[in-house]
Amino acid sequence: MKKVGVRLAVALVLLFVARVVSAQEASRSSSWTKSTTSGEGQPRGYVQYQNYCSMCHGEGPGKPGTLALQAKYKGAEPALLDKRTDLTSQLVKTFVRNGVSIMPFFRKTEISDADLDAIAAYLTRNNKQ
Ligand code: HEC
Repeated sequence: MKKVGVRLAVALVLLFVARVVSAQEASRSSSWTKSTTSGEGQPRGYVQYQNYCSMCHGEGPGKPGTLALQAKYKGAEPALLDKRTDLTSQLVKTFVRNGVSIMPFFRKTEISDADLDAIAAYLTRNNKQ
């Protein structure tokens, strides 16, 4: 009788763990999450940009940042942030720390100064000067 109780307890714990894991899997595969692009061998700014910005500023349908910038510049500047050559590091940091329209601001506990430096460097890498 005692053995059955232990087995039941173990089974319940396993069931609970399986549910938590599958809930995590489900939330990870939602469309409003971080990019799954592999960052291996890529610079830190690229990886952080994929993590924090590309769900809105990336390529493809329904990206609110890309759509908003397409409407704003009407082709005068690329709608994709990582194709721009006119952004300054200061401007990128101001938008990221303050937000604009539906873009949220990001705290230093979300994107550290060092990561933001890397993102700004990535987005200004093609600037002429
Ligand atoms: C929730 C979606 C969302 C996320 C996440 C997001 N943005 Fe934005 N971002 C927007 C939208 C929308 C705009 C355009 C707002 C407007 O002017 O109408 C914008 C505008 C900007 C602009 C101003 C560009 C211009 O020329 O006006 C910069 C710079 C920018 N975002 C950088 C970033 C960076 C860097 C990240 C990641 C750290 C990021 N954004 C994350 C939605 C987002």
